[in-house]
Amino acid sequence: MASGHEKVEKNIGLMIVLILVVVSIGGLVQIVPLFFQQSTTEAVAGLEPYSPLRLAGRDIYVREGCYTCHSQMIRPFRAETERYGHYSVAGEFVYDRPFQWGSKRTGPDLQRVGGRYSDEWHRVHLVNPRDVVPESIMPGYPWLEENAADASVISKKMEVLRMLGAPYSDEEINNAPQALEGKTEMDAMIAYLQGLGTTIKMRR
Ligand code: HEC
Repeated sequence: MASGHEKVEKNIGLMIVLILVVVSIGGLVQIVPLFFQQSTTEAVAGLEPYSPLRLAGRDIYVREGCYTCHSQMIRPFRAETERYGHYSVAGEFVYDRPFQWGSKRTGPDLQRVGGRYSDEWHRVHLVNPRDVVPESIMPGYPWLEENAADASVISKKMEVLRMLGAPYSDEEINNAPQALEGKTEMDAMIAYLQGLGTTIKMRR
């Protein structure tokens, strides 16, 4: 009589099903605890949800595809922390939807770029990177200076984020369009960049 093992080996359909069962148990054991661990679901101390201006900047960052060249995740390796500062921790990203971690680094990681340069440096750099970094291959984004920041949808965006867990008050949401009044997309982008990674102070 064929042993159980032989049956499985000779029946590829059954084998596929059993392999899927075993692999998914392994996957669930790794993944499920992450949903319940405080260190991966709770904001790190001092982390604030995005202000309206920074939120607008973040959306422009996504629209312009900055993530195609820049990651926002510092790995816990010496070479990374020496260059960029404290490695990234999950609790820094709880208000990031979607997160901008990535692994493509044509340019440097930006997770702790906040406070590293002046606003003016960013302004010049974003209009034409070669004015401050002559060998730069980053494209310029001069239209950010000309476009007004879009105030029409900012309250709606904040409402949606609140539904997903960002602790915005009614007042913050109602006053959001005012925060964007007279601001350009450049102002929003710079506000976003200057806040990046600043909740955990750099060790250097
Ligand atoms: C084609 C790839 C590419 C794209 C797209 C790109 N960058 Fe860059 N970025 C670079 C490179 C390369 C550097 C390093 C040279 C330099 O400083 O210009 C850089 C540098 C930077 C720096 C300075 C980082 C540091 O630590 O010195 C910032 C800030 C930055 N980019 C922001 C942005 C933003 C915001 C966008 C989207 C609007 C963007 N980049 C899009 C390639 C890119």
